Amino acid sequence: MPIDTIDRLASELDSESARVSADVDDFFALLLTPPNDGRARLYEAMRHGAIGGGKRLRPLLTIAAAQMLAIDPARALRVGCAIEAIHTYSLIHDDLPCMDDADLRRGKPAVHKAFGEAEAVLAGDSLHALAFEILAHPATHDDPRVRADLLLELARAVGPGGMAGGQMMDLAAEGQLLDLPAITRLQQLKTGALIEYSIEAACIMTKLPAESRTPYRGYARNIGLAFQIADDLIDHSGDVSAAGKPTGRDADAGKATFVSLLGAERARQQADLLVSQAIEHLSDHGSEADLLRAIARFAIERDH
Ligand code: IPE
Ligand code: IPE
Ligand code: MG
Ligand code: MG
Ligand code: MG
Repeated sequence: MPIDTIDRLASELDSESARVSADVDDFFALLLTPPNDGRARLYEAMRHGAIGGGKRLRPLLTIAAAQMLAIDPARALRVGCAIEAIHTYSLIHDDLPCMDDADLRRGKPAVHKAFGEAEAVLAGDSLHALAFEILAHPATHDDPRVRADLLLELARAVGPGGMAGGQMMDLAAEGQLLDLPAITRLQQLKTGALIEYSIEAACIMTKLPAESRTPYRGYARNIGLAFQIADDLIDHSGDVSAAGKPTGRDADAGKATFVSLLGAERARQQADLLVSQAIEHLSDHGSEADLLRAIARFAIERDH
């Protein structure tokens, strides 16, 4: 790809990413106005976790796919925010002492550090519920069957057959030596399932026939895996201030990752390969898929 095209894509991604981040912040700021009663602290904990941080990769994916499929941007934003609410809940719980025991998240104290463990559990629970409430609301889509489908697939992506199951495998594998297929499966559930849903949700909203979804699913699957490898590389060699979260923790905890199995060099090659494959899935598309192509590169070329 010519250099000027790469430069143009990078700057398009920067501005789109800034816009999505601001929109997601505004959405949560409005939704999470603290009430004047005993729940105020819970709302503050949710705001601390959800507003003003994170790369917002998942809403960006949904919004980029929605642009390509001519979906109303306001609806796509609602779906993106529902997904980000789930993601934020997963991070709040992931950082708890009973899981990864991390004190820093998105450059700030983790929610359990800033507010306490009980508050962190409840903030996570509440963000989880909020995601389903956002999707079920008629403002997300006027067809109730589409809303039901969005809910069903999200439940599948985050439950025991998806993210929560993957988190269990991640904990169970501490100190174990997993082979490549086993680590791939763990990471596909832990991280891949929600990233795949971010794209699938756009397909659901536009009622795309199943056979037309294949390239998007292939793209999302490759991005999901590449993204977690990049996360593991940041933990392996990244610096804490850029990462905004503790590093060097996976090796200490004996986590089973591509980096622990293959070493950093080969893990990076694997991530590169996955991103090339992701972009290859979009080969039937023209410039309308450029934002998705740029996101694919960003998924691994990052320090946070
Ligand atoms: C971190 O996710 C945890 C993983 C699932 C890899 P992100 O890297 O998307 O975290 P934020 O949202 O940018 O903070
Ligand atoms: C977390 O993976 C995945 C989920 C929260 C579902 P990690 O434990 O590697 O994420 P970080 O590195 O703490 O962000
Ligand atoms: Mg973890
Ligand atoms: Mg963690
Ligand atoms: Mg990590």
